[in-house]
Amino acid sequence: MARILSKSISSQIIFITFFFFSSSSAGVNGASHNFRFSRILLPQEMGLKQEKITHFHFYFHEIVGGSNPTSEIVAGADPTDIMTTKFGTVRMMDIPLTETPDLTSKLVGRSQGIYASSSQSEASYLMALDFVFMEGKHNGSTLSILGRNPIFSGLREMSVVGGSGVFRFARGYAQAKTHSLDPKAGHAIVEYNVFVIHY
Ligand SMILES: *[C@@H]1O[C@H](CO)[C@@H](O)[C@H](O)[C@H]1NC(C)=O
Repeated sequence: MARILSKSISSQIIFITFFFFSSSSAGVNGASHNFRFSRILLPQEMGLKQEKITHFHFYFHEIVGGSNPTSEIVAGADPTDIMTTKFGTVRMMDIPLTETPDLTSKLVGRSQGIYASSSQSEASYLMALDFVFMEGKHNGSTLSILGRNPIFSGLREMSVVGGSGVFRFARGYAQAKTHSLDPKAGHAIVEYNVFVIHY
């Protein structure tokens, strides 16, 4: 009995010691800290060097209707449902991003988030989404986009408000231009140029 007890106590000590060392050595990437609440860091202490601008170019495929729609209405407001702009209607999207306008071309990422009709007089949406990339060094990294999208305007511009992975500390803008509309198939192809400053 005593032997079993001392064995379990010593394994607890080993565990606590391990936990203490691993948590105190967790760097800026970890969730644990050996300081209280806040501290000042220089960019180089986080391994951050010169900022650069990356330009992305891809095509966004919105498909409404059919058996595999890329977005679904998740909320709406009865009184405004008769308005041509369907003011207040909220859609959740998970949209493929491809290298060329051809839907079967290389999938470079997805656009996941919501868009909501935010104008009572024109077809314009509040976009709140993440672009999640799937290619090479950008694989798994995200850019967060927020902005106004009046879909019948030639060129729309939205903000890049941040990012994750290789896009930590990102900022920039995204330009959207309708490439083609196929009302019969319910397929809209939108060309995106995204300019992002990041480390
Ligand atoms: C991207 O990352 C996922 C998950 O880590 C992996 O399964 C996939 O093969 C990667 N794709 C590319 C193109 O590197």
